[in-house]
Amino acid sequence: MSSSSSICIIDNDRKTCDLVSAFLTYQGYDVVTAEHNVSFFDTIRDKRVGIVIADLHLLQTVFPDFVVNARTINPLLVLIGYGRQNDKLLPIVSEESIFFLPKPLNLDELESLVMRAMEYQSLKMHDSDDSAAHHPHVLNSTMIGKSRPMQALFDMIEKVAESTATILIQGESGTGKELAARAIHQLSGRNSRNFVPVNCAAIPDDLLESELFGHVKGSFTGAYANRAGRFEMADKGTLFLDEIGDMKANLQVKLLRVLQNREFEPVGSTRSQKVDVRIIAATNKNLEELVANKDFREDLYYRLSVIPITIPALRERRDDIPLLIHNFLARFNSDRRHAVKGFSRETLGILCAYDWPGNVRELENLVERLVILKDSGVITPDDLPDKYLSGHTQVQVPELPTAEALPEGGVCLNSMVDEFENRLILQALARTGGNKKEAATLLNLKRTTLIEKLKKKNLAYIEE
Ligand SMILES: Nc1ncnc2c1ncn2[C@@H]1O[C@H](COP(=O)(O)OP(=O)(O)OP(=O)(O)O)[C@@H](O)[C@H]1O
Ligand SMILES: [Mg+2]
Repeated sequence: MSSSSSICIIDNDRKTCDLVSAFLTYQGYDVVTAEHNVSFFDTIRDKRVGIVIADLHLLQTVFPDFVVNARTINPLLVLIGYGRQNDKLLPIVSEESIFFLPKPLNLDELESLVMRAMEYQSLKMHDSDDSAAHHPHVLNSTMIGKSRPMQALFDMIEKVAESTATILIQGESGTGKELAARAIHQLSGRNSRNFVPVNCAAIPDDLLESELFGHVKGSFTGAYANRAGRFEMADKGTLFLDEIGDMKANLQVKLLRVLQNREFEPVGSTRSQKVDVRIIAATNKNLEELVANKDFREDLYYRLSVIPITIPALRERRDDIPLLIHNFLARFNSDRRHAVKGFSRETLGILCAYDWPGNVRELENLVERLVILKDSGVITPDDLPDKYLSGHTQVQVPELPTAEALPEGGVCLNSMVDEFENRLILQALARTGGNKKEAATLLNLKRTTLIEKLKKKNLAYIEE
């Protein structure tokens, strides 16, 4: 986790504050608490806080200028709970960077809200990163990507869309080659005409020629009438030759001729037909290798790859994974009227570390499957199929607070040890859902000793 993504809880009601702190620490977040006085701005600055959780009422009464001041600290996302006591606050809570959590506090809701806030904040930080490309995270309302390679790809697609130059898109299976081809067509001046896809691998060799160029009546058994081919259908539009690496040698020659002369002859005809098509070819095979092995014509390869585009594998742009998950989740929730809230951090961690041999298609299918099976709630590692878990070493959440380097001015040992002890106790209680006997076992204490400590420290997790 980056240092700017810690969460600051502003202390108002000690019990709630401790509960929230213990809960979020247990979830693996880096949590700091601050006294509710002006010094919390220093805390926010010093600890590079990304999210502030505070009581709306407290903010209203004690810090009327909170929102204004908070904005001056960058980056900062404000998460304000817990009560909607005053309608005057509504304009504040509807601000895009402010998330609202109603009372009474529900820890599941809190978790899903914090997850959303974290995601939003990481997008915001990415946007403010000067070195990042300037594109929005969605191209042509379909293609999602905020990683550097995808932003560069969006840039490229926008630049080449207008030209009629032939494009060769390469990339592993499921990386979005067809999506990219469609985006190029949509962004081009040809978008009012057809986008015609042909899957060269799916059509039997003896039919592909007629499929591409059409045929005249009687040219072969079964040719009962003249039939237009895909080239003709794509006139003034775009022809998408998918799986071009599977095209047989005799057709490669014919295709080369169309690329050179912009004309072709339908099967059985001697009359050439002129055509104005923009060709985009795609393959998940390594064409250079096929050329080297003489399985693909070198001259055709050069004709096709006037503008070569490679879509990187998903594992080479892992920062797109949470964004894609977020978008697929929203889409499948709405398609199926399900209410899956999100993915727990641990699950996201596992999915970001996974290698995705099936790339975006595999991720999309997984999210759809999880939404169908889960229906509602938060997706946890237990919901994932085994293959995503194997090879993954269990993520350690939470990290115990580590002793910090001794500051110049020294520390108050007693209060630090006290704080450390409080946190461990609250984590144990959070993990056991407030069960003191089990929490005591986790801490290697007697139940009575734990209860004594809770009383002495005036700590309360859930009243019994
Ligand atoms: N960047 C992306 N944003 C959103 N959805 C994507 C993205 N990339 C791929 N997809 C989705 O993933 C699936 C696979 O994409 P597509 O069919 O374009 O891949 P492909 O590279 O042509 O795969 P194949 O080589 O198997 O034909 C589609 O449902 C597509 O919508
Ligand atoms: Mg494809």
